[in-house]
Amino acid sequence: MARIAIVGPGAIGGTLAARLDHFSNHAVSLCARTPFRKLVVRSSERTFDCELPVATEPDHVTPVDWVILATKTYQVAEASKWFESLCDDKTVVAVTQNGVEHVSALAPFFDVDRVVPVVIDCPAEHRAAGQIVQHGDVLMAVPNNENGVRFRALFDDPSIEVTLTDDWTSAAWTKLCTNCAGAVSAITNRPVNVARDAQAAAAMIALIHECLAVGRAEGALIDDSIVEVVMASQRGAPDGAMNSIHADRVAGRPMEWAARNGVIVRLGEKHGIPTPCNRMIAELLSALEAGER
Ligand SMILES: NC(=O)c1ccc[n+]([C@@H]2O[C@H](COP(=O)([O-])OP(=O)(O)OC[C@H]3O[C@@H](n4cnc5c(N)ncnc54)[C@H](OP(=O)(O)O)[C@@H]3O)[C@@H](O)[C@H]2O)c1
Repeated sequence: MARIAIVGPGAIGGTLAARLDHFSNHAVSLCARTPFRKLVVRSSERTFDCELPVATEPDHVTPVDWVILATKTYQVAEASKWFESLCDDKTVVAVTQNGVEHVSALAPFFDVDRVVPVVIDCPAEHRAAGQIVQHGDVLMAVPNNENGVRFRALFDDPSIEVTLTDDWTSAAWTKLCTNCAGAVSAITNRPVNVARDAQAAAAMIALIHECLAVGRAEGALIDDSIVEVVMASQRGAPDGAMNSIHADRVAGRPMEWAARNGVIVRLGEKHGIPTPCNRMIAELLSALEAGER
């Protein structure tokens, strides 16, 4: 039995917490910003009603074996306040976020040798504090190393698949190819299948090509066919399907443009690769967000 604290029990953190609580004998606890009494996760198969300890202050928690950090990427610095109370010299932190900077973002706050970066696919919505709707199965990819193997062993759940990969960099940049293009939905305020529109598709393809170039400079091995794979999946999305950066815009929340587009610009600069499309869309999303604040 492992002690697992979920920092950020929103869509992803809440889903993982409920499923770990139900399908394992681990001691799961929640570290939240907004208090709530009960975690309720609805999926197509069942509703998970979980009475788990919920802390809102680091003073009220003690060290655990695992921290699963499931905040938005722009909340990492604030969320790191939990680490001093939750972590001892054996604690491992698994980061379940989008982007490619899972490890580097934690470097100022935690020993990077004990960070497990997790590429996660799990369509889920955070409707209110403690209220989550899970729309599909959970797929995760972690590095094929000792801590990655230990992370996979935490889950014994038919709806959760954890893949061990020898090439996590390629897995993360492959996902970024989809996520960087998602900015077009946030800018146009149109659902994922905005990709059926020729002008929107051209913008998405340009964003993906820059992502590919920078990803390859970072060591990712990704075939050119990814462009059509991403576009076909976006065109085929059901009417109304919303990606998370668009959902954040509609809800008036800050958006993860820095982790999804800004990162391509920053790492592009490092390699001398121009990324004008991602730069412009990151700047526009930043301005849009500032206007909505
Ligand atoms: N949702 C999806 O379908 C999905 C799919 C794949 C990947 N992802 C990625 O997964 C990551 C998490 O996304 P999400 O959709 O789960 O976000 P979310 O629903 O907004 O959940 C984030 C949670 O973190 C909490 N939080 C913020 N600061 C905190 C702090 N200092 N201490 C404790 N808790 C704190 C938030 O609290 P409040 O309730 O106070 O806001 C919220 O409950 C993102 O990188 C996202 O891109 C999401």
